[in-house]
Amino acid sequence: MDQAGVLREMKTKMMPPAIRQKRHNTRVIAVTSGKGGVGKTNITANFAYILSKMGKRTLLLDADAGLANIDVILGITPKYNLYHVLRGEKTLSEAVVEGPGGVRILPAASGIPEMVELSKGQKFTLLEELDGLDEDFDFMLIDTAAGIAGNVMYFNMAAREIIVVASPEPTSLTDAYALIKVLYQGYAARRFMLLVNMAGDSNEAEGVYTRLSNATNHFLDLPIEYLGYIPHDRNVPKAVKKQRLLAEAFPDSKATKSMSEIVEKLCRKQPEDYEDGTIKFFDRSL
Ligand SMILES: Nc1ncnc2c1ncn2[C@@H]1O[C@H](COP(=O)(O)OP(=O)(O)O)[C@@H](O)[C@H]1O
Ligand SMILES: [Mg+2]
Repeated sequence: MDQAGVLREMKTKMMPPAIRQKRHNTRVIAVTSGKGGVGKTNITANFAYILSKMGKRTLLLDADAGLANIDVILGITPKYNLYHVLRGEKTLSEAVVEGPGGVRILPAASGIPEMVELSKGQKFTLLEELDGLDEDFDFMLIDTAAGIAGNVMYFNMAAREIIVVASPEPTSLTDAYALIKVLYQGYAARRFMLLVNMAGDSNEAEGVYTRLSNATNHFLDLPIEYLGYIPHDRNVPKAVKKQRLLAEAFPDSKATKSMSEIVEKLCRKQPEDYEDGTIKFFDRSL
């Protein structure tokens, strides 16, 4: 093997587990927000469903350990979850369940205090397990908790693309700014895509983007991308009440249509280019 080959092999071996996922070209996308209740869980679950329907192999990771609710909005009662995986009682494959449209779901553990702040060992186990999955995924979507707690930062760093969800409420905007600031300054995250949820119309949504991107440009010298908006739509809470996915229960609703458009846009976007396989992401907590 020539020197370049040896170097390449060394790099591969030294990559943290989350990075190795990219050999399979899995796009790992975290969906996050500064403030809770802005629609992350609904968005992540529906995006995963829409991707799956498009024929993309998709894993949905419920990383909101405090209040897991993907299982609730899907009306499923999984036997095992992240907790069992992290305790070494189950492998990831054993804990992953199949949801609507063929989405694969790793449920989170709800209401277990020790899950709210994962230890270094647990974080490592999770990355190892993700890397060891037999299935190749096109997309891995991570539904995070809101805010800037350690776990949230961790899952955002495990992803290479971050969708920040904000609603038009002023507090949602300031919290989104605070979250981006911490991720950028403290964790060197760079690619942020803003998704405005529950907007009245496109003008209102674009206004949110303008205000937020003005702030990140001005104070952080950081441009952010505009991914799009999802209108406020009564069918969303209706679907939640039925414990069905919006995109499945109300495929013709306004919100489903905009979600589908956004998912198509996401698919067209180039993930960050990893040139020669160099590591753009370093999990500093490991
Ligand atoms: N586009 C929307 N239109 C109307 N209601 C929405 C929309 N998106 C989310 N909701 C409602 O907002 C609430 C919070 O959504 P959820 O996905 O649980 O937020 P998060 O995960 O960010 O805490 C839910 O009751 C949901 O029905
Ligand atoms: Mg949630």
